Amino acid sequence: MFDLVTGSISKTEGSKTQDETRQGEAYAPFAGDPNLYKKRFYIESYGCQMNFADSEIVASILNQEGFGATRNLEEADLIFINTCSIREKAEQTVRKRLTEFRKLKEKKRGMLIGVLGCMAERLKAKFLEEEKLVDMVVGPDAYRTLPGLVEEAGTGQKAINVLLSRDETYADISPVRLDSNGVSAFVSIMRGCNNMCAFCVVPFTRGRERSRDTASIVAECRDLFEKGYREVTLLGQNVDSYYYNNESAGEQITFGKLLEQVALISPLLRVRFSTSHPKDITDEVLYTMAKYENICRYVHLPVQSGSTRMLQLMNRTYTREWYMAKVDRIREIMPDCGISSDVIAGFCTEEETDHQDTLDIMEYSRYDLSYMYFYSERPGTLAQRRYKDDVPEDVKKRRLQEIVDMQYKLSLESNQRDLGKTYKVLIEGTSKRSDADWMARNSQNKVIIFPKEAYDLKPGDYAMVNVTECSKATLLGKIVETI
Ligand code: SAM
Ligand code: SF4
Ligand code: F3S
Repeated sequence: MFDLVTGSISKTEGSKTQDETRQGEAYAPFAGDPNLYKKRFYIESYGCQMNFADSEIVASILNQEGFGATRNLEEADLIFINTCSIREKAEQTVRKRLTEFRKLKEKKRGMLIGVLGCMAERLKAKFLEEEKLVDMVVGPDAYRTLPGLVEEAGTGQKAINVLLSRDETYADISPVRLDSNGVSAFVSIMRGCNNMCAFCVVPFTRGRERSRDTASIVAECRDLFEKGYREVTLLGQNVDSYYYNNESAGEQITFGKLLEQVALISPLLRVRFSTSHPKDITDEVLYTMAKYENICRYVHLPVQSGSTRMLQLMNRTYTREWYMAKVDRIREIMPDCGISSDVIAGFCTEEETDHQDTLDIMEYSRYDLSYMYFYSERPGTLAQRRYKDDVPEDVKKRRLQEIVDMQYKLSLESNQRDLGKTYKVLIEGTSKRSDADWMARNSQNKVIIFPKEAYDLKPGDYAMVNVTECSKATLLGKIVETI
């Protein structure tokens, strides 16, 4: 459901959102014997999938140092909060949570609190001034230095490292899977962003774009497959600009080539990716997707606005027509491809006609799903420095509601088009609503719920499911064949 007050979307069953700011969860990655660890850490993550993937790197580094994870805040020696700065609301949520951690710290002497991620990077030492009980501030490229920082903070000093790097990709660190369903996993393929969209804080919090060594990505995906995982999502702010120059082999690996290498690990391993910047997704990528059945028929193609004037102000580098042609191209090469988007309402100077262009492009693109936000001015961004945040809040909210209503209509229509169709689905687990049902996903990334019946199936298995009913959020079906 969409929450107009917070400007965020809460999870529907099994939804995997791109960057919704959500209440983080506590994770317990008890890798091996929990008694191996003398000390405990607790980590809570907010923001995009990349942040969640980073928490798995942090868990790995902390495990090496003898810290085991706990879901129980009270028994933690270290508390980390991996933060997001994308909208003001995201930062407010973190500050609220920190006040709760502070109360715990007052009760437990020696407990250390660390702030990780984008908010740490944005605020740097200011964080330590503003939040007196925070002991560590660690930016997204500085996690290797965590052991030293923990030691330093343990002696009563404030510890900080917010240096951004031009080459850090954590390629050699094997993530400790947190809160995993054992079926799908995220794999970071690049970090940073060079795009400078006017509204966005990410280039400032994540630094320059860099691609991870291809061999390490393929090895991580193969290892996941061998451990029983059946789906990997390749992550980056702009995956289509992945480029790795393998000098020793004299090879230049584009995103299309990387996709192919991952797809070839096994036809049983599904491959997804997120996010594609519309300007960068190439025919090479689209044809590679079409060639391999196990590369999912789904593209997240954030439009942000349907007005060329707004797109120019946003520095998105494409026009309305160019974007529409890209949607046409995707549908031409893969008629059954799912498409989703991110939309911002009420960016600086937005008029009713611009807003109508957004509603119109949503309808044209027939999005299956969108993540929708109202514009939140972020300090230091191009927009904050150059333009006035001049759309009144009530107008932003009304436009956002119209965008949400449009998406609800499109999602329902999209699901209705699926009625009667049979899809190959990957079972992710038991439905949250009923133990008698499975929750699975089709290639187009839609959630399908269906009765387990007497079939001997388990998470990670594939099945053919016929769609019998739908709502705007979910498809309901019935198994017609096991695989
Ligand atoms: N890299 C992706 C791309 O280029 O589309 C998206 C990255 S960002 C983490 C996810 C989404 O947050 C964006 O697509 C945009 O819709 C939204 N967003 C970013 N900055 C925002 C802001 N200042 N106010 C509201 N929404 C914002
Ligand atoms: Fe932000 Fe634009 Fe980079 Fe996406 S491509 S992370 S919206 S600057
Ligand atoms: Fe938020 Fe940073 Fe991701 S700002 S959306 S956690 S890259």
